[in-house]
Amino acid sequence: MAKYSLNINGKITQVEAEADTPLLWVIRDLVGLKGTKFGCGMGLCGACTVHLDGMAIRSCQTPISTVKASSKIVTIEGVASLNKVVQEAWIEEQVPQCGYCQSGQIMSAVALLKENPNPTDEQIEQYMSGNICRCGTYNRIRKAIHRAAKTASINKSSKSTSKS
Ligand code: FES
Ligand code: FES
Repeated sequence: MAKYSLNINGKITQVEAEADTPLLWVIRDLVGLKGTKFGCGMGLCGACTVHLDGMAIRSCQTPISTVKASSKIVTIEGVASLNKVVQEAWIEEQVPQCGYCQSGQIMSAVALLKENPNPTDEQIEQYMSGNICRCGTYNRIRKAIHRAAKTASINKSSKSTSKS
C-alpha cells in the first residue's frame, strides 16, 4: 500500500491504496464519490469517464500510481464548476433513461465542447463513440450537445456585448 494525495473536484484528498488500483475504485470506494460508474472495466464503455487535467479519461484503466499529485481530477460531482450548461441541456432534452451511462456521457460531452465549441453531428458521433448507452439515448445526447453549444455561444456573445 502507498499513500497518494489527489486533487478531486478542487479538494485535496489523501488515500492509501495499492499502486495498481484503478482510479475508478479510488474515487468510488475510498473517496466515496459514487457518480462515476463501473461498466465494463475494460476501457470499452465510457461509464467511468472522468477528467484528468482537462482530458476525458477512462478511470477503470488508470492505475492510481500514474496520477500525479499535481493533476486535477474532475468527476461528475464537480462538473458544474466546469460547464453547468451541459447539465442543464441534459435536463432540458430529458436525455437519461436508466441513467447508468450518463455521468460518463456528460463528462465526455464537456470535454468535446471544450475542444470543439460547435461540433457537427458527425463530430459528436465520432467523439462520443466510446461512450455506450444500452438504452439508446444517442439522439437525445446529440440534441443536448447542440443545445449546450448554442447556449454557451449565446452566453459568450451576451457577455462580450455587456462588456463593450
Ligand atoms: S468501466 Fe471504464 S470504460 Fe467501461
Ligand atoms: S441511459 Fe441507460 S445506459 Fe444510457
